[in-house]
Amino acid sequence: MTIVSELNDLAWWQKTIAYEVYPKSFLDTAGKGTGTLAGITQKLDYLQKLGVGALWITPCYKSPMVDNGYDVADYYHIDPSFGTMADMDELIARGRERGIRVVMDLVFNHTSEECAWFVESCSSRENDKADWYIWRDAKPDGSAPTNWRSIFGGSAWEWCEERQQFYLHTFAKQQPDLNWENPEVRKALFDIANFWVGKGVGGFRIDAITYIKKPSVFEDGDVDGADGLSAVHAATANTPGILDFLHEFKAAVRDGHDIFMVGEANGVDASELDQWVGERGVFDMLFEFSHTLIPMHKSEIWCRKVDWTLTDLKRVLVASQEATAKNGWYPAFWENHDQPRSTVNYFQCDGSLAKKAKVLGTVLLTTRGTPFLFQGEELGYGNAPWRSIDEFDDLSTRNQYEFALGEGFDEAGALAACVRYSRDNARTPMQWDASEHAGFSVGEPWLPVHDDYEACNVAAQEANADSPLAWYRRLASLRAEHPVLVAGDWNELMTDDEQVFAFERRLGDARAVTLANFSNKQAAYDPALVKGLKPITQTTLGELQPLESVVFV
Ligand code: NOJ
Repeated sequence: MTIVSELNDLAWWQKTIAYEVYPKSFLDTAGKGTGTLAGITQKLDYLQKLGVGALWITPCYKSPMVDNGYDVADYYHIDPSFGTMADMDELIARGRERGIRVVMDLVFNHTSEECAWFVESCSSRENDKADWYIWRDAKPDGSAPTNWRSIFGGSAWEWCEERQQFYLHTFAKQQPDLNWENPEVRKALFDIANFWVGKGVGGFRIDAITYIKKPSVFEDGDVDGADGLSAVHAATANTPGILDFLHEFKAAVRDGHDIFMVGEANGVDASELDQWVGERGVFDMLFEFSHTLIPMHKSEIWCRKVDWTLTDLKRVLVASQEATAKNGWYPAFWENHDQPRSTVNYFQCDGSLAKKAKVLGTVLLTTRGTPFLFQGEELGYGNAPWRSIDEFDDLSTRNQYEFALGEGFDEAGALAACVRYSRDNARTPMQWDASEHAGFSVGEPWLPVHDDYEACNVAAQEANADSPLAWYRRLASLRAEHPVLVAGDWNELMTDDEQVFAFERRLGDARAVTLANFSNKQAAYDPALVKGLKPITQTTLGELQPLESVVFV
């Protein structure tokens, strides 16, 4: 009885599995080498078999695609490369029939420079939208208003000839930042969100939301790189007053609807989560990046490699769990379209990628929170074997390369950092089968298909009961069968162990234990931890084989 009511207290999006699709790389039904919305609709059965109930699609609005859709020109239209609004309506409707709700990505910190609002804003200092973006005069010597470096590299300011002023861009210069201080801007953005609520979407992922509030005074920051600039992040991320804007957003869009909002929250750490999520907060969930940053420098400068240990990773994962234990809900993720592949990112040992993928899947699908899978993660890809900087499409990769050269790295060193961390590792086409271009497209794919596609693809893994895909499906069913894995409390075990990440879940009398060996050496644990429980696979009690993971329920 208790268990049933605990489950009933949860919303649909807390009980389901979410899956992120990068539509450009998912499935191309038009033969042009870039994915389509119709391609996603075609694969809804595939998603259903993975237990997916929320389908986050990265931006597919009209866009010049400088940042693959994160530069929106028109939020009310679908970009023709992806199809039409009728295709989107079809996807939403067919998804709903299968219990899969579409989650749109709202890019509200900035627009594309081709957005009509920006074109007008640029045209003079007096037009109706003159104050819709962040405009400032040059310093007396004609240079940019501050020394801020944009997240994609270079100055965060761009000169506009027509207005004779600079505009701020936290990301690329083609992505001017909106001025949230202007109530007309906020209303225009909330109207867009409500247009999509009206279409029946299940929720929103909100892009770069921690940057919307700019500081009251714009001043130079401490120089932190050989380019003489200072990271814009330090000046504009999560500044006082931001939560007032977001409470207004929540009231205008979220309240009264059966949807969820998950914010992308660079710059918020676990200690502040209670103000951001849950009843007192502004979002249902928040993507914070403390764990993805462990394998790289905190400032996300790829060439500045850091050493880390499994316990470093465990500490931040535990902190996020603890912060959301009483208030709010956790969106568990290893991968997204901005990260290298998790089979590479979270391990420092050699070993089979398939086993590593299973270790990560075991943790992700049995932890407390809504698991967010990213396309291909369930197949256990590694990073792609990039051979030259010219093969990359991603603009931030090119900037990181230039930055590394500026820091004194030679070309091979700069390339190595990009091969390791490039966002394009996540963006290579989905590998459906062993046919040409991995069944992604009959046209030439926009990014090269990973070399391993003949062995690593959906069709091959569906035919192999021991594959990562089979394991992810199994875990999805396990989660559906055992309420303790959804609604149970979470508690870490084996805290200081350098090989094993272990935790238990408890709900009423039910208990489950997850043990995941992140090392390629045998590991030991105390069998008393799993007393009275049964493993879901064959395993030797008290011992974990290299890269073995097991769930006891
Ligand atoms: C975060 C998105 O996830 C990333 O892909 C994008 O480049 C930036 N925000 C800018 O919108």
